[in-house]
Amino acid sequence: MDVSSGFVIRQETPEDYEAVYELVRSAFLTAEHRDGNEQDLVVALRKGEAFIPQLSLVAQEGEEILGYVLFTRAWAGEKPLLALAPLAVSPKRQRQGIGSALVREGHRIARELGYGYAAVLGSTEYYARFGYAAAGRHGIQVPPEIPPENFMAIRLREDAGPIEGTIVYAREFGI
Ligand SMILES: CC(C)(COP(=O)(O)OP(=O)(O)OC[C@H]1O[C@@H](n2cnc3c(N)ncnc32)[C@H](O)[C@@H]1OP(=O)(O)O)[C@@H](O)C(=O)NCCC(=O)NCCS
Repeated sequence: MDVSSGFVIRQETPEDYEAVYELVRSAFLTAEHRDGNEQDLVVALRKGEAFIPQLSLVAQEGEEILGYVLFTRAWAGEKPLLALAPLAVSPKRQRQGIGSALVREGHRIARELGYGYAAVLGSTEYYARFGYAAAGRHGIQVPPEIPPENFMAIRLREDAGPIEGTIVYAREFGI
């Protein structure tokens, strides 16, 4: 996807792995919600069954990788859904619309791939702008170790059937 401000959003390739590692590490250094291992989580997720290459996206300007988002396959009940994590933008380029563009492009591709729902654990204020709301409203519950107030979900497709159950993340999340 081309956006007017000069960056493009495209699927990640193996040539991006090093830059993405450094970007995710640096973005989360000062993040409100973090565990310090987000960059290693990405490395592990790429090798796992939950990885969806079309939903591993970078924002690039010139030669530089400025942002990254990953949606992986999760489950609720018997149904697949997506887990958005992580989302990272280079500290020097935050608040310029890059994170929003990554999320929106991820949603567009996810709809095309047929996914009905995505869930995220993060800032309710930030993710509300994309339509995320309390996941319980969509029938998606959290395991006890996750704070329910920061767990949100979005219905991506109008034809998505109801979903009901506790989210099961890819095992790499260690949840
Ligand atoms: C959160 C993050 C991905 C947002 O990306 P971004 O490109 O800076 O965001 P955008 O430019 O698309 O959106 C900016 C808007 O989000 C708001 N915003 C940015 N970070 C926010 C946060 N942590 N909490 C609440 N609002 C936030 C800004 O106030 C701004 O609002 P405005 O448009 O009304 O001015 C980026 O700041 C980042 O990488 N942070 C560190 C890692 C992180 O916390 N990732 C998310 C984990 S859930």
